[in-house]
Formats: sequence, C-alpha cells, structure tokens
Amino acid sequence: RYGLNTKFLGHTIYYQESIDSTQKKAHHLAYDGCPEGTIVIAEEQTSGRGRLTRPWHSPKFTGIWMSIVLRPKLPPQQAPQFTLIAAVAVVQAIEEVCGLNPEIKWPNDILIKGRKVTGILTELQAESDKINSIIIGIGMNVNAEESDFPEELKKIATSIAIEKGQSVSRARLIQKILEKLENYYQIYLEKGFSPIKWLWEGYAVSIGKNIIARTITGSIEGKALGITDEGVLRIQDENDKIHEVYSADIEFPDN
Ligand code: BTN
Repeated sequence: RYGLNTKFLGHTIYYQESIDSTQKKAHHLAYDGCPEGTIVIAEEQTSGRGRLTRPWHSPKFTGIWMSIVLRPKLPPQQAPQFTLIAAVAVVQAIEEVCGLNPEIKWPNDILIKGRKVTGILTELQAESDKINSIIIGIGMNVNAEESDFPEELKKIATSIAIEKGQSVSRARLIQKILEKLENYYQIYLEKGFSPIKWLWEGYAVSIGKNIIARTITGSIEGKALGITDEGVLRIQDENDKIHEVYSADIEFPDN
C-alpha cells in the first residue's frame, strides 16, 4: 500500500502471482470474516470469470485483476448500485492517470472508442435480508498489446496502452481506483445514490439512445431513458411502454 491515500480500502491486501480467480478468493475471505476494504489482486488468473459465467481473459502482467470486499449495512436490493459506483471510480481513475476519456455501457462495461477496456462484476453475500458482503471484481486491460488478445476479442476489446500509445503504471491506476472508490462509497453511504447517479449518467453511452437489451427472457428495443435510484435501466419502447431492466446485454441497432 505504498503511497495509497485511503482510510481503509486496500489496507489488507492478498497478492498472488497466479490465482484461479481473485473473485473466488475474495468470496472465501469475505465468508471467513475478513475486514471491510480487503482486496485480492493477482498478476494472472487461470479461470477469471465475467458476468453470466463467461470466462474472463486475464493474462500475466498486462492487466489489473482485482476483487474488493465491502460490508455496507444495507438491504441486498441495493447491491447492483455498487457496479455503478465502481464504474464511476474506474472512469475517473483512467481519466486522471491516463488522460483518456472512457464511457460506461450499462451495467458493467467501460469502453474506449466503443471497445471494452474494463469489466466490473458485483456479487453479493447476504444473510436474512441483510448484506454481509459485496465483492466487486474489476478486470482492466492495461498494458496488453493488440497481439495479446485472442482473435475473438480483437474487435471488441482494447487496453489502456493501445489507446494511449504507451504503457501505464498499474500501481498508479490501482491506487487511484481505490481512492476514488472509497470516496464515492462514503458519499453514497452519507448522501445516498443520487449524487453517484448524476455522475454515472454523465459518462453513460447508452442514455438517450436507441438500444436493444437482451435479457434471459427476451429482447426489448427502445430508447434508454436513464437509470432508477436502484440502478435499474429504464427503456421506452415504440408504444411508449416503459420497461425496467435489471440485467441485460446492451446492443445498439446499426443505424
Ligand atoms: C464482465 O465484464 O463480465 C465482468 C468482468 C470481471 C472480471 C474481474 S477480473 C477480477 C475478478 N476476478 C474474476 O474472476 N472476475 C473479476
């Protein structure tokens, strides 16, 4: 925690050169009662996972593969808001450390020029309608080059180094992400979700646009109006019906 300017976030760190998944390790630590703000970080994940149990490509030394344990005393329904809090922290960290301007694609993608640079995975351990812990997983492609990505990711993924044209210190990025996240977490606990929501909407690409939201039960096409105070996406379809979507993959119709 050299140079880390936080009150508690990242004061307990588990670092491993290679791990199956920092998310899995953080779940175990949380279950065993680790302090709030514990982070797990690795140089490489051998079975990193994304949303909807997709694999997450996490090669050695080129990225930030990190999971963070928080313990807010809140109802479990508020857990999805943490993806949005983390997204704001990540976007601002990339802006300040790298001078790039990322955008957020609801719910959990951070994009630069339409390609994914970071994914966020928020998971929950709850006990009798109370949050026991929230595990926020952040996967950021930092110093990967075009040739480091497998063929199927080349068109949809990017890295900080590709966009900036030079490599960037992962330590500085991690430090900034943790400082921002702690700050917005405290604002959220004191003032609620609306200050975060305003910031988030300022970075969101999908708001005001026509989108297709693919959910497990089907697709909804319409205009993305914004998010609710719970972090739920509101979509207005062509019959002006409003849909509230909790989880989906967002696509933009090609026109
Ligand atoms: C997504 O976009 O689907 C979310 C990707 C989350 C990846 C991170 S990397 C650190 C942590 N450990 C994991 O196995 N997954 C998350």
